[in-house]
Amino acid sequence: MAEKLIIFDTTLRDGEQSPGASMTRDEKIRIARQLERLKVDVIEAGFAAASPGDFESIKAIASVIKDSTICSLSRANERDIARAAEALQAAQRKRIHTFIATSPLHMEKKLRMSPDQVLVQAIQAVRYARQFTEDVEFSPEDGSRSEMDFLCRVIEAVIREGATTINFADTVGYAVPELYGNMIKTLRERIPNSDKAVWSVHCHNDLGMAVANSLAGVMIGGARQVECTINGLGERAGNTALEEIVMAVRTRKDHFGLELGIDTSQIVPASKLVSQITGFAVQPNKAVVGANAFAHASGIHQDGILKARDTYEIMRAEDVGWSANKIVLGKLSGRNAFRQRLEELGITLGSEADVNAAFSRFKELADRKAEIFDEDILALVSDGEQANEVDAFHFVSLSQRSETGELPSAKIVFSRAGEEYISEATGNGPVDAIVNAIEAKVPSGAELLLFSVNAITTGTQSQGEVTMRLSKAGRIVNGTGADPDIVVASAKAYLSALNKLQSKTEKLNPQI
Ligand code: KIV
Ligand code: ZN
Repeated sequence: MAEKLIIFDTTLRDGEQSPGASMTRDEKIRIARQLERLKVDVIEAGFAAASPGDFESIKAIASVIKDSTICSLSRANERDIARAAEALQAAQRKRIHTFIATSPLHMEKKLRMSPDQVLVQAIQAVRYARQFTEDVEFSPEDGSRSEMDFLCRVIEAVIREGATTINFADTVGYAVPELYGNMIKTLRERIPNSDKAVWSVHCHNDLGMAVANSLAGVMIGGARQVECTINGLGERAGNTALEEIVMAVRTRKDHFGLELGIDTSQIVPASKLVSQITGFAVQPNKAVVGANAFAHASGIHQDGILKARDTYEIMRAEDVGWSANKIVLGKLSGRNAFRQRLEELGITLGSEADVNAAFSRFKELADRKAEIFDEDILALVSDGEQANEVDAFHFVSLSQRSETGELPSAKIVFSRAGEEYISEATGNGPVDAIVNAIEAKVPSGAELLLFSVNAITTGTQSQGEVTMRLSKAGRIVNGTGADPDIVVASAKAYLSALNKLQSKTEKLNPQI
């Protein structure tokens, strides 16, 4: 029997640390449900001590997810660990993941601790975490820039205390494949009790080598867990991309010889969901999940594919969940068909009132757009989640005028807590005019860092999905909005970003 490679997904924790990617509790639950359908082994649901919002999200995920192990990150101190344990209480299978930096640079400059102090803290943290669960993961942060002798001392000691997974972190994406794989191999050879734990890789993509480093950790180092995120989401250049690891190990089973528990047909739905919720678009040429990943443009390739698919195709699009955009619903579809499609997409709406509200948004959309795709349904569910927030701005209507040679102008109506705002402005273009009109009524003082428009499906009928990234006082948020009219989508995205900026749940990022 081939050995299993454990897939540990950290989209909801490390992925969420990318600027603007913070998610609401409900959005996290939707992603967690999709990760469960994907059959990931471990879901790192967040960092319980980082904020009340993170704590509540982990708690909610721990109570709804049954098949995957639920994990919370915690620094190596009792308060963080107790908070993680409390958030995980309802989980059927729980893991506490504790970490402390072990590189000379981090210990001296960031922690201001001596190596001996770090060693003691790591031991105490694992010992304490074991009081709550038998499944304890320990990460030497900045492991790839740490000294081997010190790593051996720390890791041997934490395994003795009961750490069951050792996660060798390349925190700053500094590693190169052979060196990283060999570091893990050497550690496993030198540490006498190394066989008592599963070894794991955790890589960042600063030099574009996160996937290569992770696979070297598996093949050279003997790691049997890979930490990764959907679409490679993560701080700076991101983390190891789950879809690339999974498809490399599956497609080249001849080389890796490892089993996976993943249902690969759920990869593309997971990619689309994460992209749609975070507002981080997937580049078209991204491996496995990019729109062009299976598109053969050259005549020679197309000819080859028609004669025998495997001339130019190493994986099948349908195996990772690509299906030709299916028209799933239309104007005449009834409530039951709509509800059934929501269920098939794994969307559970809170109450009957939520289903009714989503159905009426669906009907409005179907009046304007003949064919409704799954992607449209996902977007309208997201819109609904935003609309449920009491203290939030809601888009009501807009009109805009633009003509060659004239200054575009726009008028918008939006509301908050029963109060209606009506505003008009001009701008360089219709989107600029709309943003100016909103700012004239509710000045935010925020800086717009990013404005992007993507077609949700194919054709000019498609809804446009807009992302607006705003920054204010060091806080960065992404707002998203979808509509067949991209000016309306832009207005919704801007209001959604303002809502996130005013949200009270500040995040504390202990790694900064
Ligand atoms: O990159 C890193 O070091 C981390 C650890 C907390 C595992 O994310
Ligand atoms: Zn990380």
